[in-house]
Amino acid sequence: MAQEDVFKKIVAHCKEYGFVFPSSEIYDGLGAVYDYGQLGVELKNNIKQYWWQSMVLLHDNIVGIDSAIFMHPTIWKASGHVDAFNDPLIDNRDSKKRYRADVLIEDQIAKYDEKIDKEVAKAAKRFKENFNEEQFRTTSPRVLEIQVKRDALHERFAKAMNENNLEELRQIILDEEIVCPISGTRNWTEVRQFNLMFSTEMGSTADASMKIYLRPETAQGIFVNYLNVQKTGRMKIPFGIAQIGKAFRNEIVARQFIFRMREFEQMEMQFFVKPGTELEWFPKWKETRLKWHKALGFGDDHYRFHDHEKLAHYANAATDIEFLMPFGFKEVEGIHSRTNFDLSQHQKYSGKKIEYFDPETGESYTPYVIETSIGVDRMFLSIMSASFDEETLENGEKRTVLKLPAALAPVKLAVLPLLKKDGLPEKAREIVNNLRFHFNTQYDEKDSIGKRYRRQDAIGTPYCITVDHQTLEDNTVTLRNRDTMQQERVAIDDLTGIIEERVSITSLLKTLI
Ligand code: GAP
Repeated sequence: MAQEDVFKKIVAHCKEYGFVFPSSEIYDGLGAVYDYGQLGVELKNNIKQYWWQSMVLLHDNIVGIDSAIFMHPTIWKASGHVDAFNDPLIDNRDSKKRYRADVLIEDQIAKYDEKIDKEVAKAAKRFKENFNEEQFRTTSPRVLEIQVKRDALHERFAKAMNENNLEELRQIILDEEIVCPISGTRNWTEVRQFNLMFSTEMGSTADASMKIYLRPETAQGIFVNYLNVQKTGRMKIPFGIAQIGKAFRNEIVARQFIFRMREFEQMEMQFFVKPGTELEWFPKWKETRLKWHKALGFGDDHYRFHDHEKLAHYANAATDIEFLMPFGFKEVEGIHSRTNFDLSQHQKYSGKKIEYFDPETGESYTPYVIETSIGVDRMFLSIMSASFDEETLENGEKRTVLKLPAALAPVKLAVLPLLKKDGLPEKAREIVNNLRFHFNTQYDEKDSIGKRYRRQDAIGTPYCITVDHQTLEDNTVTLRNRDTMQQERVAIDDLTGIIEERVSITSLLKTLI
């Protein structure tokens, strides 16, 4: 099945089973804004808990905060967001549709890549088992011709972006004869910069009101609280401050479901270090964060680092952790060595001294920062994408199963009486009433046992407990594993311990140390 179709199925599955709904759906939705449903919120909370505990519980020197979304507007001036948090925009005069100029060009580069892939696929079909893909890619005149055009475009585009050359971006769009997907015309406006921050007014009267912004990242809430936390927590460098919270960006091109949203959630950690040691800490955090991702068990081939060649002026190292989504490898997390840029800027704009006094050396300095920044929603999408599976069973039956990491699954257990009589429902209820204190547990007695298993498979419940006549005799139940569909007979008294070991976030966290 084409990956595009797989992605459509995942989006449909998210809606059908109450994971993610379009926001304001009865009013036809609101672009790039989504709501999490009854199962989505559980999965999201588990992701956040896994991250928070891995940061705050497992590190003596990392503490958390929860800063306000509204902040003093000068913060965004100091951080550079007012002046430089922009996307290059272009409008098509005929369709009146607005696009990101860089995305139009990136799509054009992707078209060249697709053309090459098509040539390769055609040749593979023609030459069958004699086909040598690497040789074909490096010698086919047709492929080489497309590759040269693609590389030249890529180089020109990268230069224009680096130089912030808006006229050149427009010229590339014209030269490449890129048309508006709606009107099909090349009637383009100039390219302009568009600031991505949402703003609103604080205060009740027009005169006294102040323009404030909805934060586009949670990180600044950490920077401006650096002194508060360091002093009140008596934190010694190196130490980190972690935060989970909403962020808002007026994205022009909002695509790919919850991958790029206008309201989303971030999990960020700023790690404050002594100047000159940041490039020792940077690889350590790269490794720690990749290990956190890989512990979920989707396979090492699902991850790669994308080291940034061009760095922001305030950074001296940066990388993305990319995850293999149905639409290719995409950034899920950024790890940045941000020098002392943010703290120095806040020192300058606030006029307050933001320094650390090192009691051992007697020196004072503005700490450097390693930042780890991950989007909850992107993490959610990566987990749904890698977990979604459609299997054909030995008997030819099909089953849709979400192979979610057990520790993150919204529902951990379903307790199912085999029949709706003979005292089995009562016994099953009794088991649920004991287990619900430990796990998110569902009770289900409707339909055949097979159908009930399928329902739980589709929402990713790792274990089903079936209560049968033997249960009434010897107080044992069957425990069915979602992925293997194997059943084992276990004593009711042992259930909590066995399941806890297999589905708890604690068990997952233990694999990290
Ligand atoms: N403080 C650094 C920072 O915000 P970023 O690369 O702009 O860096 C970090 O964002 C992470 O936030 C990204 O890796 C991504 O997971 C998530 N993110 C950014 N923009 C997003 C959007 N529009 N929708 C969903 N997630 C987004």
